[in-house]
Amino acid sequence: MPLLAALHERFAKERPFDGLAIAACLHITAETGTLVRLLRAGGAAVSLAASNPLSTQDDIAAALAVNHGIAVFARAGIDRHGYYRHIELALSEPSQGPDLVIDDGGDLVNTLHTKAAALLPNVKGGCESTTTGVIRLRRMAAEGALAFPVIAANDTAVKRMVDNTCGTGQSAIDGILRATNTLLASKTVVVAGFGASGRGIAEYARGFGAQVIVTEVDPVHALDAALRGFRVLPMAQAAPLGEVFVTATGSVDVINADHLTAMRDGAILANAGHFDAEIDVRALTSLAAAVHPGVRPHVDAYELADGRTLLLLAEGRVVNLVAAEGHPPEVMDLAFGIEALALAWLAGTVINNTGTLAPGVHEVPADIDAEAASLVLATTGTSIDTLTAAQLAYRESWRIGS
Ligand code: NAI
Repeated sequence: MPLLAALHERFAKERPFDGLAIAACLHITAETGTLVRLLRAGGAAVSLAASNPLSTQDDIAAALAVNHGIAVFARAGIDRHGYYRHIELALSEPSQGPDLVIDDGGDLVNTLHTKAAALLPNVKGGCESTTTGVIRLRRMAAEGALAFPVIAANDTAVKRMVDNTCGTGQSAIDGILRATNTLLASKTVVVAGFGASGRGIAEYARGFGAQVIVTEVDPVHALDAALRGFRVLPMAQAAPLGEVFVTATGSVDVINADHLTAMRDGAILANAGHFDAEIDVRALTSLAAAVHPGVRPHVDAYELADGRTLLLLAEGRVVNLVAAEGHPPEVMDLAFGIEALALAWLAGTVINNTGTLAPGVHEVPADIDAEAASLVLATTGTSIDTLTAAQLAYRESWRIGS
């Protein structure tokens, strides 16, 4: 992770987080470990809870706690109560609460406002890593319920391109292949949602030789899919055709009881959206005459009354993090690099009061996006052209014609 390594060296000298506490709620993977160690090198006291109980890697959690001075509250497979309890514990370490937060999905910010509101006065700002979290935060902000400024790290062009599209695209397919060892070539793969993540999943599935059907609710994204050569259908029509289904919408019940009833024997169901709400697992359970859990790691077989079997991967949770290892380090290097730069900028802006940032959801400053992309290009030895003075003048003047 060359970008985080370069920032680690820089932050160790500049100490942008000296004296500050940062509470993080992230998937606990090796890549996250590299980020929180960087925040610590920058002077922060860091507490860490998991953003999904099934993606926690216990060895990483233990190493961060024992070897790197991070207050970690996480255990793989913890129940719902324990999951939220861990977030509360991470928030109250230290007891006055964090100065800055970094979240993935909005559960930490939500817990802070609903169960630990006494800590809110200490919080100066935060960063959110994923689409679902940004949507939840925007809803909070619209109701005037968000108490501090949050940077939508998810929304930068660079992050969405590299993380949501390439990272989720590759790793969701990786999770499906590791869990099932199925051959994708010639199979009909249905991808629900053609946003940043769904586009990547659809493109990579096609790269493996699959015939890809896209379902959408947004006419612009549906047109985008159609223009890129994908077949676009409503889910009700795609359900009887698909052999592999992947949801990536950020919505709920995208695959419902009617769709499940129409599916072919052996259909594989996977979700890449943040929450396990996209495939109606309750409906699947009530349709099943028998459930055979763990027929392979991360594969549960649901045998329906008519003898058909549907295969649910990762219990309907994020397949790329549960059945594979999430995004590759190169992807997280850039995504976390943007978040580390945004947090340092926030520390300077909201804590040192060098600017004003009202409570609400804010874009990542454009120069941070460009800086992160430039640093990554530099670490890969790639150089690009720069505008000449004449080109700059041409771009900026309306008086010069063509
Ligand atoms: P996005 O907003 O770019 O795309 C979502 C798409 O789903 C939109 O085009 C929307 O019109 C469509 N959609 C919404 N409801 C639908 C429905 N009922 N049927 C069909 N299409 C529907 O969002 P993005 O960035 O692609 O994220 C999608 C989900 O994936 C979010 O929950 C996000 O948090 C999650 N995510 C997961 C990652 C992972 O590692 N598994 C990484 C990045 C994002």
